[in-house]
Amino acid sequence: MSEKSSENLIELDTSESIWESFFTVFPLVVIGTREADGSDDLAPKHLAMPMSWNNHFGFVCTPRHNTYQNIQRDGEFSVTYMRPSQTVLASLAATPRCDDGSKPITQALPTFAAEKVNAPLVQDGYLFLECELQQIIDDLGDNSLILGRIIAARVAEDAMRLSGQDDEDLIFTSPLLAYLYPGRFTEIANTTKLPFPAGFKR
Ligand SMILES: Cc1cc2nc3c(=O)[nH]c(=O)nc-3n(C[C@H](O)[C@H](O)[C@H](O)COP(=O)(O)O)c2cc1C
Repeated sequence: MSEKSSENLIELDTSESIWESFFTVFPLVVIGTREADGSDDLAPKHLAMPMSWNNHFGFVCTPRHNTYQNIQRDGEFSVTYMRPSQTVLASLAATPRCDDGSKPITQALPTFAAEKVNAPLVQDGYLFLECELQQIIDDLGDNSLILGRIIAARVAEDAMRLSGQDDEDLIFTSPLLAYLYPGRFTEIANTTKLPFPAGFKR
């Protein structure tokens, strides 16, 4: 079986981006920042995840985007984890800017203000993080890694894990959004417990 599958492997050209040649699973979050003129900025990101067990969050962003420039200037940003019903909203937040550099769609999206950072959050998400910039790592090709310290976090009541409650039921009742790069998504409602090895510790 393993011999057969290794015969069937296709070598990918690493002088180009490999990530469009197959599907992988990502979250879909919306990063909120404040534009230089004080208006809201929102942008979807899938290259985004916790960066430690100690409440750090990071995402990949190009320095060409206002998101990067706003964070570099203000040193803070917000993160909204989107629900499966919010893919259109997330996608709209990536609407190209007008010739004058504005992105009017952002003002039409339903938001509320973060509490500890000066940035918008998207209404009806299920997890809301407020982050202070810790570090930017540039020169990852055209991209940069933006690392933040989470200074405030709120989770929707229906998505909160409670002791004594069944995790399978929780996810079934409040399904999760998975972005399948490039260009597809799915709703995750049916899940199974991971078979950890006996005695496993983090
Ligand atoms: C589904 C989706 C996922 C995206 N993920 C990323 C990402 O992980 N990193 C990134 O730099 N841009 C990503 N983008 C592109 C930016 O969100 C988009 O260019 C946005 O308009 C930039 O806005 P800004 O100039 O307000 O920062 C994504 C776009 C979409 C539609």
